[in-house]
Amino acid sequence: MTEQTATAVAPSNIAFVKYWGKADAALNTPAAGSLSMTLRDLLTTTTVAFDDGLEGDVLILNGAAAPPKALDKARPLLDIVRQQAGISSPARIDSANSFPTGAGLASSASGLAALALAASTAAGLRPSREWLSALARRGSGSASRSLFGGFVEWLPGGQRADGLDSHAVQVAPEDHWDLRMLVVVVRSEAKSTSSTAGMARTAVTSPYFRSFIDTVPADLRTCRRAIAERDFEALTEVVESSALKMHASMMTSSPALLYWKPETLRVMETVYALRAEGAPVAFTIDAGPNVKVLLPPAADADGFDDIRARFASLDGVRDVLATGPGPGAWVVEPGSPQ
Ligand code: PMV
Repeated sequence: MTEQTATAVAPSNIAFVKYWGKADAALNTPAAGSLSMTLRDLLTTTTVAFDDGLEGDVLILNGAAAPPKALDKARPLLDIVRQQAGISSPARIDSANSFPTGAGLASSASGLAALALAASTAAGLRPSREWLSALARRGSGSASRSLFGGFVEWLPGGQRADGLDSHAVQVAPEDHWDLRMLVVVVRSEAKSTSSTAGMARTAVTSPYFRSFIDTVPADLRTCRRAIAERDFEALTEVVESSALKMHASMMTSSPALLYWKPETLRVMETVYALRAEGAPVAFTIDAGPNVKVLLPPAADADGFDDIRARFASLDGVRDVLATGPGPGAWVVEPGSPQ
């Protein structure tokens, strides 16, 4: 191997039609499709070095040794890359997030996508985006979507025994629709139940899980059409409905998975109030208490700043990050700025 080190940057993404539930736990394939927007400003930069001098794989997260659980997520991916490239060297992974760490924002999507791209490049592989997306999926399902920019759908696959047909595809590029997103941070603690454990519990115990999954194909059709036609009203309806159906299935699991806090509802009520005042806004919520607010392209900057200030002034809101659609993961060429 001539090139043993590579650096990649990958963005996070937020699902409009949610993924919650697996078809195959070993392959990490989903029970249904999902559709997301790749975020321009929430990035992970990861350098991978395959080095025979190491005793085993090492993971550094934001400058400190990562807990063993984090390395467990990375190792299946590294093993696939090593097998594909015909190498056996341990890897040193050095990974850092551009967004406030410990802000309760999921970094697994950007983290595992950056790892997939950096490890494959360091090992000398030149795979397709679809293969990289399927590789990232092995570490974290939502990471499959971060290989592509703009608006992205993750296909459930299910035909191939190796899972390689479960990867993401781009639905529309980032310049198709300049949607705005406000990430309203209300709590910063890491979630107590991992998404893998939460999904398994929901699938086995919630009477509403099947109903949620059964509605996904129609939600995907509505969401694709809303994006194609830049129809914010239709997008609002499907984005909020998908999030609420996912949370209804979480809440009716046993034991219940209740991710919302009083501040979560306060932000949701503010979205309803703004809409009643005539402002187009929509919310979505993932496996945690923070709320992501969607807005159409800012026709007037003052109006956008006012809405942002309104969320920032709510009791219990710690931070409001503004972002929009961005490109998929990329390799940083040695010597070039990121
Ligand atoms: O990719 P995971 O295993 O972290 O699961 C992500 C699940 C949600 O964020 C709640 C929904 C989604 O589609 O991203």
